[in-house]
Amino acid sequence: MFSLALNFLPAAAITADNFQAFIGVAIAIGTILFIGTMGVALYFAIRYRRPKGEMPGKVAYLPGNYTVEFIGIFAISVWVAVFFIWGWRDYSYMVSPQMDEYEINVIGQQWSWQIQYANGKTLTNELYVPRGRPVKLVMTSKDVLHSFFIPEFRTKQDTVPGQFTVLHFTPTKTGEFHIFCAEYCGTAHSKMIGRVHVLEQDDFKNWLDGLYVLPSKAGTAPLMEVAKNSPQLSLAEQGALVFRERTCVTCHTVNGASLIGPSLKGVFGSEVELIGGTKVIADENYIRESIMDPMKKIVKGFAPAMPTFRGMLSDEEVNQLIAYMKTLK
Ligand code: CUA
Repeated sequence: MFSLALNFLPAAAITADNFQAFIGVAIAIGTILFIGTMGVALYFAIRYRRPKGEMPGKVAYLPGNYTVEFIGIFAISVWVAVFFIWGWRDYSYMVSPQMDEYEINVIGQQWSWQIQYANGKTLTNELYVPRGRPVKLVMTSKDVLHSFFIPEFRTKQDTVPGQFTVLHFTPTKTGEFHIFCAEYCGTAHSKMIGRVHVLEQDDFKNWLDGLYVLPSKAGTAPLMEVAKNSPQLSLAEQGALVFRERTCVTCHTVNGASLIGPSLKGVFGSEVELIGGTKVIADENYIRESIMDPMKKIVKGFAPAMPTFRGMLSDEEVNQLIAYMKTLK
């Protein structure tokens, strides 16, 4: 019953099932103790309340009761020991390598996740994993601490610049689940959001070979895959996909509203005022430099918050983005 109440968040990995069982029992025992102690307190308060008009008198002295004390301490010790061993067992499982793990690399950076597969596939904020097979994420960070958190798997791990950390899990349900960053990492921390797609093993193999495309939901289809399957798109339309796929959209709007960065509406070809009052024309070179070397020219009124996209965006993608910006009148 108690674990049922927690099922608003699906449990989609072995770690999650373990966690549900543990937390279900913990909440059940906690609830019984709470109702029990509150019930007794309430009963005593009513049963032994002072009658109206009577002055407070002396209360009889009650010596301790060793039997009751012993039973109480013993029961609590057993309970704590059981929880410790149970928790230890589940925690050991969570952090231990399993047989035949599928290895995937994850790089955290302000403010997106890069996912790299052994066959060279690289995705942003989209993690594909096979159901029923242990997965090992080998993770690091380009800049500051982040934390890779999958609530439906009940597991997370920090990513640390300059070192690798690992996360083990075995998905048990197919579907789409959340990735959150669970370590405050700057302005757009709350937007550092991705998705895990758990596929059946055959589908996963096909996906690796580029033969599987998720059934498209409005706005959630893996954009680059769609783009690659639509060679009839114009350069600017491809740029619009890159703009969303590479998470530019986290910090820049195209409708004139400022977020963390300036809106890109009408920027191309216009005169841009920088910090210090210098003015530059936003041509191809300026746009390219702002993507690759964002600290060089900061637009007036904005903080120097943008990470570099050097090594992440190809020349083709930069051209696509510039073509897209030209359409944002
Ligand atoms: Cu990355 Cu918070």
